Amino acid sequence: MALHGITAILVAVAFFYGPGGPESRVYSAARDFERELHETLGLAVLAVSVLRVFWRAFTSRPDVPPAQPWMRNAALLIQGSLYALIFLVPLTAMFGAWLEGHPLTLMAGGVVPSPLPVDHQVGTLLAKVHSFLGDAILWLAGIHAAAALYHHYVLKDGVLKSMVPSNWFMRR
Ligand code: HEM
Repeated sequence: MALHGITAILVAVAFFYGPGGPESRVYSAARDFERELHETLGLAVLAVSVLRVFWRAFTSRPDVPPAQPWMRNAALLIQGSLYALIFLVPLTAMFGAWLEGHPLTLMAGGVVPSPLPVDHQVGTLLAKVHSFLGDAILWLAGIHAAAALYHHYVLKDGVLKSMVPSNWFMRR
């Protein structure tokens, strides 16, 4: 539950600080803060996602209430895509930047130089794929959140409650 919430917050803030525009703008000194914050948050998403896979391997999921097959399949598709994206979005950015010839630049002066030879064309392509997937993760997360609200307010099952702290829905 905590890793899910932390991932959601990190992805949303990383998206908000997404450095856009041509390469010269993304890597200009004026954009240093925005880019460093974005890269740091994005790498934190990757780190939390790795932790989450380990956590899932050693713990069990909450039971899912019965649902119609189409609904279960749609949920599996969206959740599977989100799982793939929390890895693919940071990885395309890392390899895109490195192949373009840029080190990763993190908050507090952290720099991770490229271990790869420059291939600018492939790097630029990966950076474009990264921007596209970065938008896609937000759209899918929006659908995923809307589905959780549908479960709570329309189907009135325990799906949303199983993913938030137990005192959130207690009557005062
Ligand atoms: C889940 C985490 C991330 C999300 C949601 C995300 C999202 C985005 C989005 C939406 C853009 C496009 C912004 C625009 O066009 O206005 C973008 C661009 C960019 N992101 Fe990320 N990002 C993430 C992680 C990372 C990481 C880990 C790095 C670096 C290590 C990174 C580096 C960049 C760079 C350099 C660009 C500019 C790409 C270009 O050259 O056009 N991002 N990101």
